[in-house]
Amino acid sequence: MPLVSMRQLLDEAAKGGYGVGAFNVNNMEQIQAIMEAARETRSPVIVQASRGARSYSQDRFLYHLMLAATELYPEIPTVLHLDHGNSVETCKSAIEMGFTSVMMDGSLMPDGKTPSTFQYNVKATREVVEIAHAKGVTVEGEIGCLGGIEDGHGAGLDGLSHLTDPEQAVEFVKLTGLDALAIAIGTSHGAYKFTKKPTGETLKMERLMEIHRRLPHVHLVMHGSSSVPKDLQDIINQYGGKLKPTWGVPVEEIQLGIRNGVRKINVDTDNRLAITGAIRKVFFEKPEEFDPRSYLKPAREAMKKVVALRMTQFGQAGHAGDYAPVSLEEMAHRYHEPVAV
Ligand code: 13P
Repeated sequence: MPLVSMRQLLDEAAKGGYGVGAFNVNNMEQIQAIMEAARETRSPVIVQASRGARSYSQDRFLYHLMLAATELYPEIPTVLHLDHGNSVETCKSAIEMGFTSVMMDGSLMPDGKTPSTFQYNVKATREVVEIAHAKGVTVEGEIGCLGGIEDGHGAGLDGLSHLTDPEQAVEFVKLTGLDALAIAIGTSHGAYKFTKKPTGETLKMERLMEIHRRLPHVHLVMHGSSSVPKDLQDIINQYGGKLKPTWGVPVEEIQLGIRNGVRKINVDTDNRLAITGAIRKVFFEKPEEFDPRSYLKPAREAMKKVVALRMTQFGQAGHAGDYAPVSLEEMAHRYHEPVAV
């Protein structure tokens, strides 16, 4: 099946009461790992690329790899999503390329660092919604700012600054007409999120629930949702790595979020850790190896294991065959007739 709209996947997830992992990619092995995990667990899937990933892969390599994924895994509803679009122009170029979903992150200015104003965010997001919906493409917006600059984007704030204000969230949804809303509840990008295991209080789960109470029909998105498992950290450190002790977002908290309106869960760091650990292990144990396949294969397998586990934990496993894909043309038509969506 062709790439499908993220709105359809999230609407189905809401009906079924489960969440869908959105996994970041830069290269072929990561895409293969996700698609294999999706096949094994029979999961619909969101594959996402940041601006950095688009530039690393010269954009078209990534796009054509995703077309290959849809050819080789026709039974898996697959979304190609732009992660953290920094401007209307960036979103436009992704839509033109064939992305079926875009994030307009107007919570930050186009430099990807400076928190913006509410007015700027509404204007930029609204503009993207108009362009995207005319083509049946989904739009994710963000209100409030995430912390963390570990992976090159984010506000560079500590995890607790600039949390989402529930009242502003309601206003934002009304003014923009977006499909999915990323909220800031104390998570941040990257490996170094917390210096001890976070509680529901550190993560402001109450605030998430409050937003869901006020916006029961809006698909919520949790960014910075890697769990940074100790076993993955240990493999890296055992084979010569130097990660400092750190904690991520416990899976139980994500599952609580899913019971309260979270439909999309962004995971990148856990996969990076799995890949790096597997490569380090080969380099350490077989220093004579020089065929890239000898370390990229175990790296791909390690990422697949993490993704498959998350798919099961988020509840998307088993749902790949639940529905027939709706074309982007039909989605565009439905946006035109809002009652039908
Ligand atoms: P992690 O760094 O926690 O994996 O978050 C990724 C993310 O939110 C991408 O947008």
